Amino acid sequence: MHDRHALTARIAGLGTCLPDKILTNKDFERMVDTSDEWIVSRTGIRERHVVSEGESVATIAVEAGKRAMADAGVEPEEIELLVLATATVEQPIPATSAIIQPALGIKNATCFDIAAACSGFLYAMHVARQFIITGEVKTAMVIGAETLSRYTDYTDRATCILFGDGAGAAVLQAAPAGEGILRSALHTDGTYADFIQMPGGGSKYPPNVKEHIDARLPFIKMRGNETFKVAVRSITEVCQEVLAGAGVAADKVDLFIPHQANLRIIAAVGERLGLPPEKTYLNLEHVGNTSSASIPLAMREAIDRGVLKRGDLVLLAAFGGGLTWEDRLRLSWPGQPVRGDGERPRGEVPRGAGRVRPRRRRARRVPL
Ligand code: ACO
Repeated sequence: MHDRHALTARIAGLGTCLPDKILTNKDFERMVDTSDEWIVSRTGIRERHVVSEGESVATIAVEAGKRAMADAGVEPEEIELLVLATATVEQPIPATSAIIQPALGIKNATCFDIAAACSGFLYAMHVARQFIITGEVKTAMVIGAETLSRYTDYTDRATCILFGDGAGAAVLQAAPAGEGILRSALHTDGTYADFIQMPGGGSKYPPNVKEHIDARLPFIKMRGNETFKVAVRSITEVCQEVLAGAGVAADKVDLFIPHQANLRIIAAVGERLGLPPEKTYLNLEHVGNTSSASIPLAMREAIDRGVLKRGDLVLLAAFGGGLTWEDRLRLSWPGQPVRGDGERPRGEVPRGAGRVRPRRRRARRVPL
């Protein structure tokens, strides 16, 4: 079954970066009124990585971008477009993509940011794919990078236990229709915009007003329970839409890689789609919800673990603040060498909590 376009985009390389500092559920037991048991049973999350002093969304995005180029075997000069997705920009002006361009050495790339919260990476892939389909560029980079810890309210037990930091990058290249990305769909419903939000820090409640900080406006707020229900419905529907559009039955999908927000959301979606747990890739247990970095982090891990293999039919789906959701079906995974994440020592965030410890890997296919 071929796309109507003669060209599509394929992922030529993937790179990721997780900060070394880790916050465990035990750390949260010391910070707020919660328990490891509550967090694991309600979310599936046990720990998350957070940036330390001296790190920022730009530093981890650059690391991921360099690794993606090495993985793809492309020179920085070959990258003609960078689309960076983040909800946690380096600074409001200029765009984070422009800030990191020199460090990546991608001097021939047009750079811009997009904001679609947790759906950001797949939105960025969709945008870059359009540039490739029209022939405007041959090689593009997309990055999903987040430092949610810098906007997390560590006094709010309902949100602080969810989020982690990280970055993932992909090099996209033109491919014949029928290979690479087969199909994708984007959706937005702004009537749910207040379900997940950070009210302060923008034009309405500027960050330079003390009252806004005192009222804790520049922090992430979420109506978790309502978000949960919309997430299950929306992800299920968009996956069905993409599968039908590509003419592919759900049982033909080799691997489902959903946005890693909540184990119960993922389980409910898998059940509705008829996708068995063993075909669903999970890593939220040790990274938490990393928003736009979630999908590339999971993909990279799945490859490194030998779970995602060349030629596999992969269903990717994300959902996030806006509300936005996105789904794509991908074929012909290019075989690439295994690579790890960053090994740099970091400081402390939030102060006094968490620790830096050697990386360890867990089983990636967690039974739902
Ligand atoms: N520890 C202990 N108790 C808690 C905690 C905690 N960390 N957090 C909340 N509770 C309490 C609540 O106060 C409430 O207590 P009450 O009954 O006395 O009022 C009780 O637990 C139940 O609260 P709910 O919010 O109904 O719990 P729920 O089962 O819905 O789980 C959660 C909360 C984990 C946040 C869930 O709703 C969720 O995952 N929602 C979706 C999140 C998501 O997918 N976001 C999308 C992407 S995010 C982005 O785009 C940046």
